[in-house]
Amino acid sequence: MYLILWNAGVLGILIPQVLGMKINYDGDQVLKIIPQNKDQVLCLQNICSSSQLDLWKPLQPEDINVRSVVHVRIPSVALQPVKEAMLHCSLSFNILVGNLSQLLGSQEEIKLRRRRSISDYDYTIYHPMEEIYNWINVMAEKHSDLVTQHYLGFTYESRPMHYLKISKPSKGPKKIVWMDCGIHAREWIAPAFCQWFVKEIVQNQENDPRIQKILKNIDLYVLPVLNIDGYIYTWTTDRLWRKSRSKHESGACYGVDLNRNFNVKWCNFGSSTNCTSNSYCGASPESEPETKAVVDFVERTKSDMICFLTIHSYSQYILTAYGYSKDLPKSYNETIKVAAMAASELKKKHGTDYQVGSFANLLYEASGTSQDWVHDLGIDFSYTIELRDNGTYQFILPEDQIQPTCEETMAGVMTIIEYVNDKYFPNKASTSCGNLHLYALLSTFLTIVVMT
Ligand SMILES: *[C@@H]1O[C@H](CO)[C@@H](O)[C@H](O)[C@H]1NC(C)=O
Ligand SMILES: *[C@@H]1O[C@H](CO)[C@@H](O)[C@H](O)[C@H]1NC(C)=O
Ligand SMILES: *[C@@H]1O[C@H](CO)[C@@H](O)[C@H](O)[C@H]1NC(C)=O
Ligand SMILES: *[C@@H]1O[C@H](CO)[C@@H](O)[C@H](O)[C@H]1NC(C)=O
Repeated sequence: MYLILWNAGVLGILIPQVLGMKINYDGDQVLKIIPQNKDQVLCLQNICSSSQLDLWKPLQPEDINVRSVVHVRIPSVALQPVKEAMLHCSLSFNILVGNLSQLLGSQEEIKLRRRRSISDYDYTIYHPMEEIYNWINVMAEKHSDLVTQHYLGFTYESRPMHYLKISKPSKGPKKIVWMDCGIHAREWIAPAFCQWFVKEIVQNQENDPRIQKILKNIDLYVLPVLNIDGYIYTWTTDRLWRKSRSKHESGACYGVDLNRNFNVKWCNFGSSTNCTSNSYCGASPESEPETKAVVDFVERTKSDMICFLTIHSYSQYILTAYGYSKDLPKSYNETIKVAAMAASELKKKHGTDYQVGSFANLLYEASGTSQDWVHDLGIDFSYTIELRDNGTYQFILPEDQIQPTCEETMAGVMTIIEYVNDKYFPNKASTSCGNLHLYALLSTFLTIVVMT
């Protein structure tokens, strides 16, 4: 029954609309630039600001630094003047994407072709929101002993936000691990991973001792798409939209960067008070209903929450607190150790390199992030994970990379979750380990007996 719904939704209603009204980015290019000195940094900052270019990495001209990588989209009409201006200050560049609309178009074709042939939920393609809503329903119905669907709040455009709770009955008290995906609309690989994660847990919980161990102590809460309005907008209108869809200044501009809207050093660094900006922090902390929904939930559950994961793309980073400062929190020694363990397990799957570090030191300073807000509530294991890739396709990660990306990310994420499980439930960490402890205790006891 659900399969019929999925197919009807996709082929009958959604796709024709999508093709009709989309921004197509015809001839736009994405350039990679690494400024070599202060003058080049200034020059590039000027070009970006004066031409109001769409910076992808970093998000704001102020965050461009000497010898750091810059990715920027240049609209086709601006290509010639921008390239001339760059040559003028001896800035060299590489073309990462030669024609954005061609890249976007080729992926659209693949989607159409593959959708016609699917008969089951396909975790290796990107799904529009109505399919994900359906998928949430199906998971909760088909696996009702393990998975339940819950309401978190409403989006700005009044859509319900649902999360899935994966939980085994237990006599003892349990802890919570939270994971959200898709706080930024265009980072499509993130919601794909949240779905993959739920599938893997459900599919393997009967045979995988590690999952069984974790589910004894921990409930997993997964919010597959946080910024639902924005995600839908990337399907209908603008594939490269980042923010939410709230209206500002009487419709002069739309959207807040939800990951700048949390109440932690709000709007200090890496955020903008200008609502046209991609890092607009909103009118006030928690001004956005999506932010508020997450905040209310975490406030309610913080005494049980032991780990908070927020999934993004791109850059291949596992980031710890802080974003709002280059200073490191007390928790850093341990959280960075765990991040490094996760990156190493991740790499074993497909050889993908990840870097680990604090948000501000590896990426750029950014205040008002969910990771920092949660960390400063007392939940040390609060991570931002930036998935593939490292600059080849950026936000337009091809569907044939969904599976390897999810496989390796699963290995990394499970490493983190297992670590927090073993830390908070040391006695239940594993039976063999428990026996070892007993053994050690016994032999100490025997030694004492013999000596006396
Ligand atoms: C970019 O690609 C699109 C789609 O393939 C094509 O129609 C268009 O002519 C290309 N534009 C340029 C400037 O090459
Ligand atoms: C906001 O940014 C836009 C685009 O850069 C600019 O045109 C506008 O003047 C700015 N508004 C304010 C209030 O600074
Ligand atoms: C973290 O590790 C460094 C180097 O090993 C050490 O100097 C520092 O005291 C540690 N900090 C904390 C808070 O444990
Ligand atoms: C990603 O690419 C940049 C250069 O473009 C390089 O400096 C960086 O080390 C790469 N990161 C990873 C994790 O491979």
